[in-house]
Amino acid sequence: MRLGLIGFGNIALTLLGQLAETLDAPLEHLTVLCLPEMTGETQARLAGDFAKIAKEAAVVSDAGALLADRPDLVVECAGHGAVTAHVPPVLRAGIDVVIVSIGAMSDAALERELRAAAAGGGARLILPAGAIGGIDLLAALGAAGGLEVRYRGSKPPLAWRGTPAEAVTDLAALSEAHTFFTGTAREAARDFPRNANVAATLALAGAGFEATHVELVADPAALGNVHEYSVVSPLAKYSMRIENQPSAGNAKTSVSTVYSVLREIRNRIGPVAI
Ligand SMILES: NC(=O)c1ccc[n+]([C@@H]2O[C@H](COP(=O)([O-])OP(=O)(O)OC[C@H]3O[C@@H](n4cnc5c(N)ncnc54)[C@H](O)[C@@H]3O)[C@@H](O)[C@H]2O)c1
Repeated sequence: MRLGLIGFGNIALTLLGQLAETLDAPLEHLTVLCLPEMTGETQARLAGDFAKIAKEAAVVSDAGALLADRPDLVVECAGHGAVTAHVPPVLRAGIDVVIVSIGAMSDAALERELRAAAAGGGARLILPAGAIGGIDLLAALGAAGGLEVRYRGSKPPLAWRGTPAEAVTDLAALSEAHTFFTGTAREAARDFPRNANVAATLALAGAGFEATHVELVADPAALGNVHEYSVVSPLAKYSMRIENQPSAGNAKTSVSTVYSVLREIRNRIGPVAI
């Protein structure tokens, strides 16, 4: 496979480590699109720690140069700005893209642009389950309509520092779980953009941004990022609770997110997709 990666942070580095351990053979080619100021450092890491991951590797800083390397698949693991800047041209060029910064799609104009780019290029925009699970069932049930989806995201109080939660809650003083936000997935993504990925994934798979109900909770008893959601549909009902471990390189990112991206790549390379 000729793989393109947008971003070279926690998810990208962990993913490359997992690929190195699990692939039977090196990638044909790896292109990393990073910020211009990170080019030298990225080249050095690729030549050192990841020298064996691909037969050839290149570092670029714009989508044109990424496309010139003819990737089979591009994985975005960089952030909202990178989705806006780089993903539409890649899709328009007919190349499938996995995006992990799914919260970016709470921007309705960007969602329209990405869908149009994929349709125009004959490519697919692939949204992995990321930090949660059960997306297969939610998306399947969604086809029948009539969904009610309620999501509750809990983290230790201090993990909400630097967000609007601070304005309404004395995070350091909490001794029990406190729900500081209740609203739609659209409102949650607007007010808590750095925590928008899970709510956006549920909204896109199921009832949409306006009809997906979100609660955000500061909970002194939470050991990590806890995601709970329930689905009621005319066809089935289910609920799910996921307690995620933070990843070593970025406590805000649940490590299972990386495994979810690894799954997307392995499903493309292996003889069976599941
Ligand atoms: N879908 C999910 O469930 C889920 C879960 C966790 C994280 N995420 C998202 O994944 C993304 C990456 O997470 P991470 O833990 O690797 O973050 P990180 O901060 O460790 O790494 C991000 C990398 O992207 C690079 N970058 C930023 N803007 C860029 C641009 N315009 N072009 C190229 N590179 C750029 C940064 O330099 C950095 O190397 C974030 O947007 C995060 O919100 C999604």
